Amino acid sequence: MKYFWGGKEAMMKAKPKLLPFDKNIQDYDILFIGTPVWAWTYAPPLNTLFSTCQIVNKKIAIFCCHGGNKGKIFDQMKKVLENNQILGEIDFQDPLKNNTDANIQKAKKWAEDIMKMLKKYEKNT
Ligand SMILES: Cc1cc2nc3c(=O)[nH]c(=O)nc-3n(C[C@H](O)[C@H](O)[C@H](O)COP(=O)(O)O)c2cc1C
Repeated sequence: MKYFWGGKEAMMKAKPKLLPFDKNIQDYDILFIGTPVWAWTYAPPLNTLFSTCQIVNKKIAIFCCHGGNKGKIFDQMKKVLENNQILGEIDFQDPLKNNTDANIQKAKKWAEDIMKMLKKYEKNT
């Protein structure tokens, strides 16, 4: 039922109400945006986020968790975030079930490498 309902919501581009959060995206230059893959696309809460928060001129790293078929999720995320600079992308296959520790290390290294790249870039400009 979860897959059926969730898959339908994702395909219909549903915009569920988000839980309140106390962060203002406009206060940040760099964002890491991640999602589970639902029906080969991003999960519905991101539809809400993308349609309610203006996300432009940011530096954004994108990531996803999936069960083995991520479809074209990164192309879709890049399209909806087209007025931003995409810093990198990475995916994890069911990280809570498979190689959790290795996936944690992979995620940390990826995030650290992106931050190092940004610092190096800022130093040279
Ligand atoms: C409604 C629903 C749809 C899903 N669709 C896909 C899919 O299209 N491709 C895929 O590889 N995994 C799919 N999955 C599996 C999840 O993406 C995967 O289990 C992911 O690791 C879940 O991350 P989470 O633990 O952060 O929710 C789906 C899961 C759900 C609940």
